[in-house]
Amino acid sequence: MTGNRNRPRIVICPDPLAASREVAQIIAAAIEAKPDIVLGLATGGTPVAAYRELVRMHREQGLDFSELTSFNLDEYIGIGPEHPQSFRYFMQQHLFDHVNVTPSQTHVPDGRGTDVEANARRYEDEIRAAGGIDLQLLGIGTNGHIAFNEPGSPASSRTRAIELTTETIQANSRFFDSIDQVPKHAITMGIGTILESKRILLMATGEGKADTIERAIHGDADPSHPASLLQRHDEVTYVLDEAAAKRIAV
Ligand code: GLP
Repeated sequence: MTGNRNRPRIVICPDPLAASREVAQIIAAAIEAKPDIVLGLATGGTPVAAYRELVRMHREQGLDFSELTSFNLDEYIGIGPEHPQSFRYFMQQHLFDHVNVTPSQTHVPDGRGTDVEANARRYEDEIRAAGGIDLQLLGIGTNGHIAFNEPGSPASSRTRAIELTTETIQANSRFFDSIDQVPKHAITMGIGTILESKRILLMATGEGKADTIERAIHGDADPSHPASLLQRHDEVTYVLDEAAAKRIAV
């Protein structure tokens, strides 16, 4: 399947720290322009320093988070919000506990209970009721996954439970004591959910992401590489460091 190919805006920074500062600047500018913005947030190693920079901007420059609403991309199934590797815990630890967000306005998909599909439908309803996502931050997996949309996820997919690939379990095992502790399932926004965001900001750093970034930008828009489906969106910004950008033509 190939779709319309839009040209993304590509910002190449000298190193991961500069890329993190760029991402934080873009998010801060968006919050300042619209204090009640609906932000889509991501987890993973990549955005940690960008969140640290946003915390600094809150402390030193008074960046105000009180009116915004946030929706995270995904969450593991099988570990609760109090688990240190859950994405809710990650968000509290890296951002929410250090800024003046309104706790009830922060949302992370709920992988608990017996009816995760009902949780997923409710999440979609909550995003819609908030007016949709204004700015969605994304990372990218080495296999091209965005959120937990593994290869094969259709462009029309919505928030749902999915089974993680061996490659993703392996990649995320660095955060757990052993690979057996990594959950095998997750709840994730779909590609269709993500494509409805008004703006998308994808951050990637390091040589290990260079091949997947090349395929996302220059490859066919195809579910076998979920990030390539972002070519269908006309407001995508990539913030990369030089290592992640080394195979792309700009
Ligand atoms: C995780 C997350 C993604 C993230 C990706 C890359 O599994 N579900 O949202 O973008 O993998 O993570 P990292 O930034 O640690 O490379």
